[in-house]
Amino acid sequence: MEDLVSLCKRRGILYQSNEIYGGLQGLYDYGPLGVELKNNLKKSWWAAMVYDRDDIEGLDSSILTHHEVLKHSGHVDTFSDPMIDCKSCKSRWRAEEIENNKCPSCGSSNLTEPRPFNLMFKTNIGPIDDGSNFAYLRPETAQQIFTNFKNIVDSTSRFLPFGIAQIGKAFRNEITPRNFIFRTREFEQMELEFFVEPSSADKWYKEWVKTRMEWWIKQGISKDNLKIFNVPDKDLSHYSKSTTDIMYQFPHGLEELEGIANRTDFDLGSHTKNQKDLNITANVDKNNTSNAKLAIQDENNNWIVPFVIEPSAGVDRGILAILNEAYKIEKLEDGKERLVLSLKSHLSPVKAAIIPLKKNNDEIVNNAIKLKKELQKTGIGRVVVENTGNIGKSYRKHDEIGTPLCITVDFETLEKNMVTIRNRDTMKQDQIKITEVVTFFEKYFQT
Ligand code: GAP
Repeated sequence: MEDLVSLCKRRGILYQSNEIYGGLQGLYDYGPLGVELKNNLKKSWWAAMVYDRDDIEGLDSSILTHHEVLKHSGHVDTFSDPMIDCKSCKSRWRAEEIENNKCPSCGSSNLTEPRPFNLMFKTNIGPIDDGSNFAYLRPETAQQIFTNFKNIVDSTSRFLPFGIAQIGKAFRNEITPRNFIFRTREFEQMELEFFVEPSSADKWYKEWVKTRMEWWIKQGISKDNLKIFNVPDKDLSHYSKSTTDIMYQFPHGLEELEGIANRTDFDLGSHTKNQKDLNITANVDKNNTSNAKLAIQDENNNWIVPFVIEPSAGVDRGILAILNEAYKIEKLEDGKERLVLSLKSHLSPVKAAIIPLKKNNDEIVNNAIKLKKELQKTGIGRVVVENTGNIGKSYRKHDEIGTPLCITVDFETLEKNMVTIRNRDTMKQDQIKITEVVTFFEKYFQT
C-alpha cells in the first residue's frame, strides 16, 4: 500500500485533500492522471451497462436529498454503525474493529458501550438556518433512482425487466476512514437498479453476480484475487433479502469491492402512497408522505411493484484494486529493475506519449505536435508530447503511469517519414511510417 500511495502522489494520480491546511481525514483528490483513470473506469462501466445493452437507461440525479426520502428509505433510522470510544486515548472505533475488548490503538479496556452513530451528512437548505429546512448529502446514489422511477417509466415507455444506471458521489461520515481510498467520507458509486418481475428476481440476482465478476476481470483484476461472499442474514442491510459481495484481495486484506443485493420491493414500496392497493411483500414504512405510485403495469394491465436487483460498485475501491493489480516491479536483462503499471489499455490515463528525440529541433518538435493532434482527433483518449529531450527518462515515466505506447520522432522521421513505436509491456520497438500511425493507434485500442 505504501508503494502505491507514493506512486500516486509522485505521478499525480491521487493527493490528500486540503493538504496545505493539514488535510481532512478520509478525503482524496484525483490529480491530472487520476482523473483520466477514474473517467476511463466510469466510461467502461457506463458502456457495459447502458450502451452495450438495450435494457438499461441512465440518470444523473441531485446529491442533496429531501429528508423524507431518506426517512422512508430507512436510512434516518437504520443507516448507522455502532461505535465505541476508548476513554483512555480518546480514539473512536467501529464496534467490529474491537477485538478482545481492547482498544486497537492503546490496548486499554476502558471502552464505552457500543452506541449507534448515523453516517449521513446533514446540511441546511436556503437562507434560514432554523433546523427545519434541512437535507442530506446522499449516502448512496440509489435513492434518487427509485424516486425517479415513474418519471423514467413514463418518458421511456419501459416494461420489465429494465434497469436505471447512475454514477456519482455518495457521502458517509465514516467513523474510521482508512486504507487510502478504500474507506473514505466522500466517494463515488456506480449503481444499477434493475427492476424485475418478483418471480424472476432470484434468476436475475445470480445473473448479475456473474456479469459483474466478468466485468471486473475485463478491467484487469485477476480472477484469483476475487472471491464471492454470501452475506449472512444477520449482517444484511435493512432493505436486503440477500446480498453477495464481490471481495477483492486489497493490499490491506480481503474486503468488499462491490455488493449485489436483492432489495425486493422495499424501496419502491416504501416511497409509494396507497400501498394497500398493491401487493407489496417487504416490510415497508406505512406512514408514507409521497404523492407517487412507484409501480408498473404488466401485459394484463395489473399493477405490480417490481423487485430490484442492485449491483453497487465503488469507483474508488475499483481504482485501488486496479492500481494494485497493475503495479509491477520487473527485473530487466541488464540486472536493473523497472516499475511498470500494466493497466488495461482502455484504462490508461495517457494512451500514447510522443517523444521528440531532440528538444530544441523545431522540425522534429513540430512533427511531434502534428502527430499528437492527429491521434487526439481519434477520440480514443489523451495523447501527450513529452518534450524533455531525455528519452530514457520519458520511457521510465510512461512505464510508471501505464502509457501503452511511446512514439519517438527523430531524424529518420524527417528523412524517411519513419517513427519508432515502443510497446510498454514487451518494450519491443518497431519502426513504422508516420502516415500509418493513426491506423496503427486505432487498431491497437480496438483490441
Ligand atoms: N446502494 C447500496 C450501497 O450503497 P454499500 O455496500 O453500502 O451498498 C456499495 O456500498 C459500494 O460502495 C461498496 O461495495 C463499496 O465499493 C463502495 N463504498 C461504500 N462505502 C464506501 C466508503 N466509505 N468509501 C469508499 N467506497 C465505499
